[in-house]
Amino acid sequence: MSVSSLRAPAHSFTEQFVQADQLANQYGTPLLVLDIDRVRENYLALHAALPGVTLHYALKPLPHADVVRALDALGGSFDLATNGEVDVVAQCAVPASKTIHTHPVKRVADIEHALAYGCNTFVFDCANELHKFAPYNHEVELLLRLSFLNEDAAADLSKKFGVTPAQALPLLQQAHSMGIRVRGLSFHVGSQTRDPHKYVAAIEQCKEVFELARRAGLPAMNTLDIGGGFPVSYQNDNIDIDIDSYCAPIREALAQWPQTTHFIAEPGRYIVASAMVHVMSVMGQSLRGGKPWYYMDDGVYGAFSGRVYGEPAQRFYTLHQAPEQPCVLAGPTCDSIDVITEHVNMAQLQDGERVFTANMGAYTWTTSTDFNFFAKAPVISVDSALSMAQLG
Ligand SMILES: Cc1ncc(COP(=O)(O)O)c(C=O)c1O
Repeated sequence: MSVSSLRAPAHSFTEQFVQADQLANQYGTPLLVLDIDRVRENYLALHAALPGVTLHYALKPLPHADVVRALDALGGSFDLATNGEVDVVAQCAVPASKTIHTHPVKRVADIEHALAYGCNTFVFDCANELHKFAPYNHEVELLLRLSFLNEDAAADLSKKFGVTPAQALPLLQQAHSMGIRVRGLSFHVGSQTRDPHKYVAAIEQCKEVFELARRAGLPAMNTLDIGGGFPVSYQNDNIDIDIDSYCAPIREALAQWPQTTHFIAEPGRYIVASAMVHVMSVMGQSLRGGKPWYYMDDGVYGAFSGRVYGEPAQRFYTLHQAPEQPCVLAGPTCDSIDVITEHVNMAQLQDGERVFTANMGAYTWTTSTDFNFFAKAPVISVDSALSMAQLG
């Protein structure tokens, strides 16, 4: 689909592609163009929609230093999961007090790496993990991760991590007996959760666990971490999800908690997905089974890796208007699974022509490989505050 054939084209959306086209003239393709202004807008919109909730940007979907610096300057906090993510925030001189480490399963060396940086809040979800904190019991504060299954999510993280509310109390008691302070509970309702009531149900069950712990005489917990999962509109690129309305039931659920509670959220996708545009070029083409196959210079081993592991599908655009026909967009490698989509309508493409994709900020660059020596698409950041583009 071409930009000009959109029924209700968003002006800035077209502008994003024109800008990406100009940058591709300079830097080549494939290319990812990261709009730092949009990162700020998304952060501020979620911040306004969740007053009283400390937003820890989860680096996982886009661990890019320019995002970290921009959010740090806005007063944002950070959610880290690996040593590499610790290193990114450390290199950006983020104060460690603004970070939490939320990977439920870590090596002892990972705990030490985060502690050396100064991050001392960690997540656990089993006794085995708890034992790793025994030597640091006076240094660390923990959150116990609960699981709430959500098959509708793009990634149902509760399959892999977290305990049921019924399993929580023995773990809280064990931590207490080891002299380890548990600050509170955390959960992740699943990435790209369309129904905010999934948060509400989880928040209510956490409240029951807080109450059970209180009745069991455990030291008071004061923190509830509602995780990430806030959704993005992928199929209607020019119609944003109204994050304020989306968060209304979540606000209502949190209002039932004591005012002294410290609320945390770990948004990843929502902050960065809409902030990145991708541009790639046609390397070659053929007619197979009567359908045009376009071999692009990026594919499922690159920025479109999400197509393999169930990420929502983005749409494709060109800058010229022409009748569209069904075609296939394939990736550049010699592998047969490297097909971006077999179900798309596009104007006829010429070799070298550019194809644009919006909403490419989350789980794209970070999960790209250089299989077959096709290099990962580099990131160019565009920031009106700096009026400067920079290679990442
Ligand atoms: C612990 C944790 N927090 C936050 C996130 C970010 O989630 P999302 O990108 O859905 O907001 C993830 C993603 O997997 C995660 O594992």
